[in-house]
Amino acid sequence: IKKMILDLDTGIDDALALALAVEDPRVDLIGIIASYGNTLVETAAQNSLNLLHLLGADDVPVFVGEAHSSTTNHFDVMPISMAIHGDNGVGNIELPIAPRTVETKSGVQFLIDAAHEFGEHLIYLPTGPLTNLAAAIQIDPEIATLIGQTTLMGGALTVPGNVTPFTEANIHQDPEAADFAFTHQKNLTMVGLDVTLRTLMTKAHTQAWRELGTESGRLYANLMDYYIDAYDRLDIDHRGAALHDPLAVAVAIDPDYVQTIDLNTRVTYDQESGDYGRTIGDRERLNEPTTTKIAVDVDVERFVRDFQEFM
Ligand code: BDR
Ligand code: CA
Repeated sequence: IKKMILDLDTGIDDALALALAVEDPRVDLIGIIASYGNTLVETAAQNSLNLLHLLGADDVPVFVGEAHSSTTNHFDVMPISMAIHGDNGVGNIELPIAPRTVETKSGVQFLIDAAHEFGEHLIYLPTGPLTNLAAAIQIDPEIATLIGQTTLMGGALTVPGNVTPFTEANIHQDPEAADFAFTHQKNLTMVGLDVTLRTLMTKAHTQAWRELGTESGRLYANLMDYYIDAYDRLDIDHRGAALHDPLAVAVAIDPDYVQTIDLNTRVTYDQESGDYGRTIGDRERLNEPTTTKIAVDVDVERFVRDFQEFM
């Protein structure tokens, strides 16, 4: 059974990705790393602790990752993130406070140690910026080949971005780190907007969760409804909201949900260029062998149905 580490900037879809990983018996969730992004890193860590508590998973440790991008020394949550995920990251819903706190070891060190301990059995799954992964590789370059599989939510190759016409939100937070990760990390799969924007959850789905009559069913329906309402209010999509981060977890466990292409990929980070933070094929390595896969098609029906039924 594979070991999984989630690196979450715990907003709403991250919370659902967390629930999916906890519930799926095919993976053993060995820890969470908190990232900045949808919220401040401290808020992301507390949200993950609280969600794990609700899910009866107080044994899964939570580590604090980097608080800001590798090129700045400060991070402010973007207003659009607060509009989508609520001021507290979890739809302004007050979760019961977990009876424990975060670990003292840093998130970056936890990733390095786990890479050495579990090697090819380890799945690392970031659903926020790639700052922690890049920092870990810089400290210990060996982990780029040790980690069995890295499946990330982020990027946009064939569709427009959601922050700029070229740039997806997670990549936009730290394009330098993302480029470093894409050009160093082996066995990397990008689950980006190309596929995630097509996997929509609707109010009909959340209603079905509500009708389960369970505490978690109700909570996740409330979280998701906040997110669906935000998509509607902000004119992102009036039908439903994208299951970005849960799709990455599903793909890590069952790659058949998506079709991928092999492509050595880079991230542009020239501030002046107008396509800052774009994920794009690497001109220098176009014909070289690659261990990077980009998801370009998804079995929407199967994934959305399975996702609704996991709860
Ligand atoms: C990604 O950005 C974050 O807001 C979401 O949680 C997701 O990981 C989508 O672009
Ligand atoms: Ca996320």
